[in-house]
Amino acid sequence: MSATVVVGAQWGDEGKGKVIDYLAERADVVVRFQGGANAGHTVQVGDETYKFHLLPSGILRPEKLNVIGNGVVVDPAKLIEEVDALRGRGYEVSNLRVSDRAHVVMPYHKVIDRLEEEAKGQLKAGTTLRGIGPAYEDKVGRLGIRFVDLLEEDVLRAKLQLIVPIKQKVITALGGTETLSIEELHKQGAAWGARLKEHVVDASVLLDDQLRKGRRVLFEGAQGTHLCIDHGIYPFGTSSNCVAGAAATGGGVGPTRISTVLGVVKAYTSRVGTGPFPTELSGPLAEYIREKGKEYGTTTGRPRRVGWLDLVMLRYSVRVNGLTGLAVTRLDVLAGIPELQVCMAYKHGGQKVRDFPASMKVLAECEPVLEAFDPWEDLAGEEWRKAAKQGYKALPTELRRYVEFVSAEVGVPNDLLSVGAGREDTLDLRAKTAR
Ligand code: GDP
Ligand code: IMO
Ligand code: MG
Repeated sequence: MSATVVVGAQWGDEGKGKVIDYLAERADVVVRFQGGANAGHTVQVGDETYKFHLLPSGILRPEKLNVIGNGVVVDPAKLIEEVDALRGRGYEVSNLRVSDRAHVVMPYHKVIDRLEEEAKGQLKAGTTLRGIGPAYEDKVGRLGIRFVDLLEEDVLRAKLQLIVPIKQKVITALGGTETLSIEELHKQGAAWGARLKEHVVDASVLLDDQLRKGRRVLFEGAQGTHLCIDHGIYPFGTSSNCVAGAAATGGGVGPTRISTVLGVVKAYTSRVGTGPFPTELSGPLAEYIREKGKEYGTTTGRPRRVGWLDLVMLRYSVRVNGLTGLAVTRLDVLAGIPELQVCMAYKHGGQKVRDFPASMKVLAECEPVLEAFDPWEDLAGEEWRKAAKQGYKALPTELRRYVEFVSAEVGVPNDLLSVGAGREDTLDLRAKTAR
């Protein structure tokens, strides 16, 4: 049996958590493969809302294994906090597994994240301050601590003796006043190891075993394609690979295991953080969408910047991820907006640009070429759910025209449509698209 990867096609917050929770009903394993507690994935079940940062979004289904893969950088304090919070809400969380090769976000990573942001001026990304960049820097620089190290106290001590003096110099050089203690960090690390030991496994062996048994594995992307360290808006994105190919390296499975790649697309665009945003809206319309869509960061609470759907971005995501299907979310939020538009291409220096530029200078100068769409009527609360239940034909004609246009433009079928935050507000078109 093969695996499905779910990735964000924009700048994050597309609704990956909701889509994973929905798909998890028919999966056996859910795997996070990159990012860390910078992610904020919301799952709404009935009247209950859950916000996950490190826990995979299949965790609410106790019979499904939920795995944090080697590609994730894990802040154990945050993970323990999330596990405890979920236990407080009646979940055992005994279905959680963490790769022994996952890297640990240490307290000094968060200090350095803040100091680096302060030093970067115009080039700061507006990070979540969760220590993500510095943790990946140490992973690549071979100064990282992995979960397996938390279980070997002598190894942990030897590593800290090497690493901590280096980090102390970095902190001081960046103007920080924090003093690091090897003893305290060792005590903390060993305590994390003792607490999380029961969850730590060789995740690659586990996934291989599951796949060989014919189990269905879902990989849950965090962030979004345009925040990817290689394919995103460098240097304003995040520090991990967020594209579908990263599921193989970050999960420890071969790429031949992956058969389906679903791109989650918000019906418009949002961004939390800095950098160019060609279709960005301002004024009362932006305010309207932000309020109607409750567009505030799940992790930091910052107001999200909003703009029209950008097909230049989406075509790029189709290409670098090899998307086989789209899951278009938040169609209910766009309802009733008379001046609805979609960005078909950019204009730059009198030329039409259809491929997303590498240069942030060029991107900042790009003007969107917009096409207007007829608005669809805004259904009252429960009516969206009813329409979702009745099927595709029950959706407003103009909405169908919108999603069919997007699908045709990028050459990828609409597998799922979402018209609300709940599980029931989902239309599954996979039978219709014969997949
Ligand atoms: P993620 O980071 O991609 O998982 O997305 P977030 O959870 O950060 O943000 C998406 C938000 O949209 C969450 O609050 C979801 O509950 C909500 N959501 C998802 N799909 C829909 C939808 O179709 N309509 C509405 N109104 N909200 C949705
Ligand atoms: P989910 O998984 C939206 C943004 C930050 C910042 C940049 C780098 O919920 O879609 P980092 O802390 O990763 O070093 O910050 O990336 N960012 C996100 N924006 N959704 C996310 O995750 C994000 N994770 C990081 O705002 O601009
Ligand atoms: Mg989010």
